[in-house]
Amino acid sequence: MTLDLFQDCDLPSPGREELAPGAILLRGFARRRAEGLVAAIEEIAARTPFRHMQTPGGQHMSAAMTNCGPFGWISDRRGYRYEPSDPDTGAPWPPMPGIFLDLAADAAADAGFPGFLPDACLINRYEPGTRMSLHQDRDEQDLTAPIVSVSLGLPAIFLFGGLKRSDPSDRIALVHGDVVVWGGPSRLRFHGILPIREGTHALLGRQRINLTFRKAA
Ligand code: SIN
Ligand code: FE2
Repeated sequence: MTLDLFQDCDLPSPGREELAPGAILLRGFARRRAEGLVAAIEEIAARTPFRHMQTPGGQHMSAAMTNCGPFGWISDRRGYRYEPSDPDTGAPWPPMPGIFLDLAADAAADAGFPGFLPDACLINRYEPGTRMSLHQDRDEQDLTAPIVSVSLGLPAIFLFGGLKRSDPSDRIALVHGDVVVWGGPSRLRFHGILPIREGTHALLGRQRINLTFRKAA
């Protein structure tokens, strides 16, 4: 306990912060499960590798992505959608590990959304300099379920805006182990990630990994 506290002394202390109605930041919520999460991510990526998906406009996404669970989010020239199989391997996405399901349900319940059972987990990998531009998560059929977003590795500035693209965004510093949950009246808020700053993380090296759990179908 004491040793852990010393190791983590540069990290904000665990706690719960309301960002907006239905949007909760759970500081450090995933920190103690991080090593297990990273091992599971490595197993998933060995089966269904990270790739830079093409956007409908023909660019490539700055973050590399893969998925696990019954459905995976993909982007290509035809648009954005959920698919039960990886178009690159032709195989179903790897199943969602128990450690993922437990974390997603625990975090959602803590944020006021009990009974969350995600059927999709998008795994984003950012290297320094990469970003995610402002967008809404709106490809899911069930908008009553929240989004649960887990940050691992290098820190990031999360942009959390309103329901219109032109609404001002808050800038929230997210570090390893932080979890953000947004649902209810905040479910369709615009959000994004500013370019990741150069750095090296003790567990993940020169990368940030984000898990977003969704109820897609
Ligand atoms: C996303 O919106 O899919 C990712 C957000 C993040 O990387 O924190
Ligand atoms: Fe998103």
